[in-house]
Amino acid sequence: MTTDPQRLLQDQHGRVKRKMRLSLTDRCQFRCQYCMPETPKWLPRDAILRQEEILRIATLAVTQLGITHIRLTGGEPLLRKDVVEITTELAKLKSQGLQKLSMTSNAARLGEFAAPLKAAGLDDVNISLDAIDAELFKTLTKAPLQPVLEGIAAAKKVGLPVKVNAVLMKGQNQDQILPMLNWAAAENVELRFIEFMPLDSGHVWDESLVVTETEILNAVSEQHSVQVLPKGHEPATRYQLKNGPSGGQVFGVIPTISHAFCGSCDRIRITAKGTVFACLFSQTGTELLPLLREGADDETLTKAIRGDIWNKHRGYIDHPGYVERPITMHAMGG
Ligand code: GTP
Ligand code: 5AD
Ligand code: SF4
Repeated sequence: MTTDPQRLLQDQHGRVKRKMRLSLTDRCQFRCQYCMPETPKWLPRDAILRQEEILRIATLAVTQLGITHIRLTGGEPLLRKDVVEITTELAKLKSQGLQKLSMTSNAARLGEFAAPLKAAGLDDVNISLDAIDAELFKTLTKAPLQPVLEGIAAAKKVGLPVKVNAVLMKGQNQDQILPMLNWAAAENVELRFIEFMPLDSGHVWDESLVVTETEILNAVSEQHSVQVLPKGHEPATRYQLKNGPSGGQVFGVIPTISHAFCGSCDRIRITAKGTVFACLFSQTGTELLPLLREGADDETLTKAIRGDIWNKHRGYIDHPGYVERPITMHAMGG
């Protein structure tokens, strides 16, 4: 692991990168409108990073670039056949500086995968769940709710800590705020409400659809009194319910649109096809796949990553609103 401050991965705005989000596939069996088109065009198999290429990038990131946290994303990472093997291999990086190996999943296949992933060395899992009402869930995702609930139960049973993400969209699921919060309190899982971000491909996003942090807190305060907790490095602002049977329960809000948190951004993203994206809202990235397949040495690869990150713009605050982008959320991994 690199401790030399000169070697850390940083951008020209002084932000040091510690967390790498690594997309294992662009495929997903759900069709959340805010994330992907109704008839997505999947990447051809050969255009996706192979297992050994993923391990090479992750190893360089941990041993030479100061990355301490890796989060496996998708599409849906559990659709990748070698996901347990990849997890096992990545977990070995814990002896070289990796502190945490996480995953973000839709949980539909977690019932089957929770135990092997835990055994492979996965530390925790974040699960996307945008409604607790089964009919609404089906409308939003085109998939059934029950396997997701079973996936969450399986993760808890094997001791994988779970956080649940709910993207809110006006006119679709903002009436789920209280039912979901009460469900999360009963399940004892941390729920984070996410402001809808302009990252869909079909230009569904419009500012009028965003349920803002203030609106979320207003809805919560109809039933609960809340206090804000000190802000850490994560995107979520965390709150705690004060009284009543759910007292002590913590929930979060990820407020990219109403309160961008770019000044403390410590993330980089590698897409399923091996492109480095410095920001969720970057217009372009740096392709690592050609370098990897041309036999580039470690120095060339780390230089390519450093260069991309160094040139990072300030973030959403520089490009607010909907921007046509070459990549949508399902290929970026969130
Ligand atoms: P933790 O380490 O548990 O905080 O993970 P996380 O919240 O970064 O991961 P997750 O995959 O659960 O992401 C939850 C939501 O936060 C998704 O909608 C992400 O797109 C969003 N998100 C994650 N990182 C960033 C970021 O750096 N910037 C912005 N704007 N949103 C982010
Ligand atoms: N806005 C906000 N969050 C999004 N996610 C996917 N697309 C969007 C969007 N347009 C979230 C998913 C998942 C995480 C990886 O990203 O709900 O929890
Ligand atoms: Fe980081 Fe970009 Fe998100 Fe801002 S919008 S926090 S810079 S990823």
